[in-house]
Amino acid sequence: MKIAISGKGGVGKTTLMALLANQLQKEGKEVLVIDADPSPHMAETLGIEGVENITPIADMKDMLVERSGKTDGSSFYNINPRVDDLMSRFIVEKEGIKLMVLGAIQSAGKGCACPENTVLRRLLTKLLLSSSQVVLLDMEAGVEHLGRGTIAGIDHLLIVVIPSRSGVRTAKKIHDLATQVEIPKISFVGNLITGQPDRAFLNDALEADPIAFFPDSAHIRKSERNGTSIIDAASDVDTAIHDVLKAVI
Ligand SMILES: Nc1ncnc2c1ncn2[C@@H]1O[C@H](COP(=O)(O)OP(=O)(O)OP(=O)(O)O)[C@@H](O)[C@H]1O
Ligand SMILES: [Mg+2]
Repeated sequence: MKIAISGKGGVGKTTLMALLANQLQKEGKEVLVIDADPSPHMAETLGIEGVENITPIADMKDMLVERSGKTDGSSFYNINPRVDDLMSRFIVEKEGIKLMVLGAIQSAGKGCACPENTVLRRLLTKLLLSSSQVVLLDMEAGVEHLGRGTIAGIDHLLIVVIPSRSGVRTAKKIHDLATQVEIPKISFVGNLITGQPDRAFLNDALEADPIAFFPDSAHIRKSERNGTSIIDAASDVDTAIHDVLKAVI
């Protein structure tokens, strides 16, 4: 099972993924979390120590260029670079949850350094296609930076949406994009919900019922401020986590 998460900036993607990873691990699943956000934040959210020592693979430019086979002055590079060893070399683990910090995969046209991106995309595709674990992919808003091959590996896209007009607008845009690239299952997940009016607003504005509604959680706020792991104390979101798992597993 390969689950990706998307949504507008700051809506709670990383938080929700960390909660899901924790619950899946508790239920005995092997979990691999991939952080493909340009400003990776998952390690901290999961409460992994020594976060400052983790370098996103995307930042290892020399290694990526070398893997791409691009030599100075040449415009040719290997479109099928070797990545197998990277799959285990760059994984950190905490209490059974594995994490790989990939960093930013740029979409073509953003002045991208293509050889590097080829390696990153290839790595991500391999992880998604070959892993027998539950893979959770945390990323930025769009899906356009993912290649076709990568998208083929994703079973289910969760779009996090908060109850605001602009939140809904972005969520719908992501839904359209994801539909175009033929991700098999796409669901909305409500976050920062304070009551029934918020649910009603989302159901109405999205013209689809989210599979779960996460409350605005006092526990999450508190642990985020204290710098403690949110997964240790998030009891008020249990129902929502179970609702998501019911829909994805
Ligand atoms: N249900 C919730 N209740 C309370 N606080 C929350 C909840 N969900 C997220 N937050 C808080 O909102 C902030 C943003 O969350 P998070 O980093 O998960 O969002 P994101 O979508 O991953 O952001 P980015 O786009 O920067 O990656 C964090 O401080 C987080 O603790
Ligand atoms: Mg995030």
